[in-house]
Amino acid sequence: MPDTKTATAASIPLAPRALPLLGHALQLLRDPLAFITSLSGYRRMVRVRLGPSSAVMICDPGLTRQVFLNDRVFDKGGAIYDRIREVIGDGLSTCAYPLHRRQRRLCQPSFHPTRLTGYGEVFARAAQAKASTWRDGEVVDVTQDMMTLTTRATMETMFSGALPEETMRRALTDTSTVVSAFFRRMMTPALLRGLPTPKKRRYDEARHRLSATIEEIIAERRADATDHADLLSALIGAVDEESEGGEMRLSDSELADEALTFFLGGMETTAITLAWALHLLATNPHVQHRLQAETDEVLADNDGALDTRHLPSLGLASRVVTETLRLYPPAWMMTRTLREDAELGGVRLKGGSTIVLSPYLLHRRSDLYTEPNRFDPDRWLGVNPDRATYIPFGAGPRKCIGDQFALTEAVLALTAIVARWHLAPIGDEPFRPKVETSLSSRGLHLRLHERRASDADTTTTGARAHASRSASTPSATKPGAGGCPIDQ
Ligand code: HEM
Repeated sequence: MPDTKTATAASIPLAPRALPLLGHALQLLRDPLAFITSLSGYRRMVRVRLGPSSAVMICDPGLTRQVFLNDRVFDKGGAIYDRIREVIGDGLSTCAYPLHRRQRRLCQPSFHPTRLTGYGEVFARAAQAKASTWRDGEVVDVTQDMMTLTTRATMETMFSGALPEETMRRALTDTSTVVSAFFRRMMTPALLRGLPTPKKRRYDEARHRLSATIEEIIAERRADATDHADLLSALIGAVDEESEGGEMRLSDSELADEALTFFLGGMETTAITLAWALHLLATNPHVQHRLQAETDEVLADNDGALDTRHLPSLGLASRVVTETLRLYPPAWMMTRTLREDAELGGVRLKGGSTIVLSPYLLHRRSDLYTEPNRFDPDRWLGVNPDRATYIPFGAGPRKCIGDQFALTEAVLALTAIVARWHLAPIGDEPFRPKVETSLSSRGLHLRLHERRASDADTTTTGARAHASRSASTPSATKPGAGGCPIDQ
């Protein structure tokens, strides 16, 4: 029997300025971040309309967590996942609840912490190689370069780097085309989405070519029984012991979906995290100097080597990444669909309703973070981010499987870059995110100045002075702590 005292969705306030027919679609398309932040005043829930359909936006950390944890009822679904499914089918990130647990069990071993040691070397090497292509005084397209870096690193960790240069380049171009089309396609009504425009043709060609590339790689690998100690070998070898009646191994088409999922899920998110981190360092030179000092010290103590063993000494680099993901969470908005009627926060919601969750909204709430718009990596000094209010990787059973992979890559790559380069903004104009399916840094340019040995000496002295100041600060109880904790 339904509880007659429970309110219905109609009791949830409607966000202001909904237009007849369009609802809030124009506000969401024009300035989604301003729109989303304007909703934080609602504290619990607010209704948003997109054309004829409406969605419930969750503004409260506790309710957000309830939705994340109960994936049996609040399942993956909604416009974002429908569009992503066009490309990666029912891969781990898009599949519905009934398919999820088996796939997660099959994919999890690929991300086992012991594998990160090998991946870490790849990340540092890829970043050092990228950093050696720049010239002193050059202005670089940071997002493009970080995409090249993470594509290379992902390809190498997934496919042991045994791919021809031409295949890498093609995959990079196709991934950019596909990823940048997601958000517009999500906002475009179904009828218009099918129109054969040049953009639609480019999108279709890119996603077919990308799938074909991955299928080709899998077919070659199937024909060769060697264990390449990479992500693809781990996926091919994975066995689901708990499989009840289902297949114990991934089929070829499932393998292709998972490989594409990791590829699309991991490359762009990590690339834009790195690009935003570099932007924040360029616009906060005092933090950049301290980071260079930390980097110089760690590299000097280890004869220039950089790998996962050095992560515990890279406390500031880790805090910079944590703070970057707070300010610019690549997955700024996620959606869920109710599989059945359910109650949330005292409100009865109907099966089929769409729920919107937003890390960006929570991360910028002034009652949750002091001066939420300020870049302050030291807010994480000796502090583990709270798992309800800090959610760049989501939470619960659908939490990002690549979180440690991404954090390791970002910290090592950032360290390798600032060891050699000083970054400066190219103008006074503030740089604004391009809001797509992810919070993109597309178009971000920075000027690079090569650091000399004398810079390194000065910053190292500065770091030692800072380290001794921090040690006397009561909050600095755990040097190197404050990295992104993982909520299991
Ligand atoms: C900074 C980088 C990254 C960020 C911010 C990020 C963010 C996220 C978020 C928020 C989710 C949950 C989505 C939801 O609940 O609706 C997610 C899921 C996922 N991510 Fe990531 N991700 C990153 C890197 C990666 C990497 C490197 C990989 C793989 C190589 C990856 C693979 C996945 C997969 C497969 C899922 C689906 C997990 C499941 O449903 O069981 N991600 N990611």
